[in-house]
Amino acid sequence: MADLDDSLDARISFGCPVGVQVILRAAWRHDVAALKPLLDAPGKASCRDPETGETPLHAAIRSMGPKAKDDDGSSEAEAAATKTIENLLFGGAIWNDVDANNETPGCVAWRLNQKGLYDEMVRAGARAEMLFAILDGYEELESDGEEDEDQDADEEEDEARDEEMGEAKAEEEDAQEAEEEDAAGAVSGPVDAEQTPYLESRLTLNNGKLVDAAGNGVMMDWETDIMRRSVEAMLGPADAAAPVKEKRVLNIGFGLGIIDSMIAARQPARHHIIEAHPEVLARIDAASKNPEAAGDDHAAEFGAAWEASGEGIDGNEGAFKVHRGRWQDICPKLLAEGELYDAIYFDTFGEDYSELRRFFTDYIPGLLDDSGVFGFFNGLGADRRVCYDVYTRVVEMHLSEAGLDVAWQDVDVPLAEDGLDTAGAGAWEGILRPYWTLDKYRLPVCTFMG
Ligand SMILES: C[S@@+](CC[C@H](N)C(=O)[O-])C[C@H]1O[C@@H](n2cnc3c(N)ncnc32)[C@H](O)[C@@H]1O
Repeated sequence: MADLDDSLDARISFGCPVGVQVILRAAWRHDVAALKPLLDAPGKASCRDPETGETPLHAAIRSMGPKAKDDDGSSEAEAAATKTIENLLFGGAIWNDVDANNETPGCVAWRLNQKGLYDEMVRAGARAEMLFAILDGYEELESDGEEDEDQDADEEEDEARDEEMGEAKAEEEDAQEAEEEDAAGAVSGPVDAEQTPYLESRLTLNNGKLVDAAGNGVMMDWETDIMRRSVEAMLGPADAAAPVKEKRVLNIGFGLGIIDSMIAARQPARHHIIEAHPEVLARIDAASKNPEAAGDDHAAEFGAAWEASGEGIDGNEGAFKVHRGRWQDICPKLLAEGELYDAIYFDTFGEDYSELRRFFTDYIPGLLDDSGVFGFFNGLGADRRVCYDVYTRVVEMHLSEAGLDVAWQDVDVPLAEDGLDTAGAGAWEGILRPYWTLDKYRLPVCTFMG
């Protein structure tokens, strides 16, 4: 990243409305006494400079300047900044507003090595996202009429505030909302609650990348090491060739078949796969009929012959099976049939985080054996460190509500070596937007509490 100018003069533009300037300056000085009365109406704590996108949270953190790498202490200035941040958050400041440098307040804190303030922003993000999840649930209960009335009232309030705080506010807020939904939602890639566009999208498989019609990376082979470590976490850390003949395994989301190939190599007693995309399913059928043409596509390992090879292996029908459809439709049937697994892995695409949460809340208790292990691809918010850290906390709390403990294993992601350090180049060539930017993957190993 080019050197950024963190001076106050650079952050408050010529055209910044006076009302916004006054708030930004008070936040910059950590002058809580002056700031508090200025936050007397909705939207004021989240006001922003129309050009630089500076918000009071950015200002309160930025004014601290860089902290030396070996400085672990907390100063009086840091205490004042923390108090300012608390007041802003209490006044409705938004934790993940992005400025014109594409930084949230948490990103600024991380860049300046202000670890204490960074942690403050992570806690704020987790609180906001937990609340967001709760309110999202309540909204579903509202009638259409009520929703419309609320929306009208919100719009009137927004208009009044925009007049006071400057014209650019509305546009920026829309962009912010989109960004917030993006960060909040992605299980792996862009969000779509109904999922229809993705499931109807044409897919291409090229150079170890499965890509949808819009250019989003559905699955890429740089994730192979993460898949290997996930299999070891679920089926034991033994040498990958050690058979686990008594284990029953369910994998949701076939993609490139990387994890399924590794699971099959461990020779489980039962191996079920759920896959919804018709083209992925067609690839499995075609590749398994003509393995030579399939080259190194793992899909060739999982056709009708594989399913037939499982007959009678554990004394039950259908030991090896690709269940064709969405997990939302298949899992209720598996429950009704009394299927139970020792290991369950979840890695879908194009679904909202609330779907992953629904899966572990509604289905893990019925489908996972008491001593079983649940894992999932932890790509939540992985295009921004602060979002990743916030989502680690959020998912931990939701897992705990579902009766699950989670232990995290750190896995190194060698960004430069894997060609992941430049958008549009290396591994990201031909991919719309990098969905991974971090040098450590946090691998979840979930088990029942107690
Ligand atoms: C990221 S890929 C899985 C990659 C896999 N872990 C591997 O090792 O190759 C996600 C897969 O989930 C599938 N998928 C998406 N939504 C689904 C749903 N609701 N039910 C079942 N499969 C789904 C996609 O079609 C895609 O094949």
